[in-house]
Amino acid sequence: MRKNIVAGNWKMNKNLQEGIALAKDLNAALTADKPNCDVIICTPFIHLASVVPAVDAAIIGVGAENCADKVSGAYTGEVSAEMVASTGAKYVILGHSERRAYYHETPEILKEKVQLALANGLTPIFCIGEVLEERQQGVQNKVVYDQLAGSLFDLTAEEFSKIVLAYEPVWAIGTGLTATPEQAEEIHAYIRSVIAEKFGAEVAENTSILYGGSCKPSNAKELFANPNVDGGLIGGAALKVEDFKGIIDAFK
Ligand code: 13P
Repeated sequence: MRKNIVAGNWKMNKNLQEGIALAKDLNAALTADKPNCDVIICTPFIHLASVVPAVDAAIIGVGAENCADKVSGAYTGEVSAEMVASTGAKYVILGHSERRAYYHETPEILKEKVQLALANGLTPIFCIGEVLEERQQGVQNKVVYDQLAGSLFDLTAEEFSKIVLAYEPVWAIGTGLTATPEQAEEIHAYIRSVIAEKFGAEVAENTSILYGGSCKPSNAKELFANPNVDGGLIGGAALKVEDFKGIIDAFK
């Protein structure tokens, strides 16, 4: 059966010392009170090599927030999937709406990143989701379909089965607006139906689909209670142990 997952996306927050302290505090809190779901923290690149040994790998998985679309070479400032994996990180967020919008990452670029992540043994946490205007026009299903098709439909079913999906409506990210549990369930069920059609019912049943966008301790339980919502990808609330643990505890 698919896993329930609560993953944190630190984005561009916390210097190295603050990041290590946050990871250690979270590790202590979850060692004292074990989670009922998989827990992942995705950190800036420079934190990875320090955060990986600071946490118990049996309790907290560590991931990057991005990786390059090239294997290696003269790409100044880029960090490859192989480099990420060499830190001991196991996950990488790809296709986040902030990367799509601010750094112009296209479905084709993301396709390369996904393949390099998989080739290096990383689990991609692949993000999809519509902007407000698209939701208002009622075309959210088409938007997520195109995002899935544009980057993931070249994968084999075996490769796809290694992917975690995150549905993040852009209008809910960092805005305090949250999709209602009904809105989340409706589109998560649609996403699962797309996977079933393309990769088969078994792969679809086993794919974890996380919700992201202003998730907090006060709304996590009702969001995660939906049959097709398998956890969350958490931004702001992942930066405080108390808030992040409150969301993790929604699975208790
Ligand atoms: P917030 O939880 O801050 O809305 O961010 C969600 C997100 O973008 C996680 O990737």
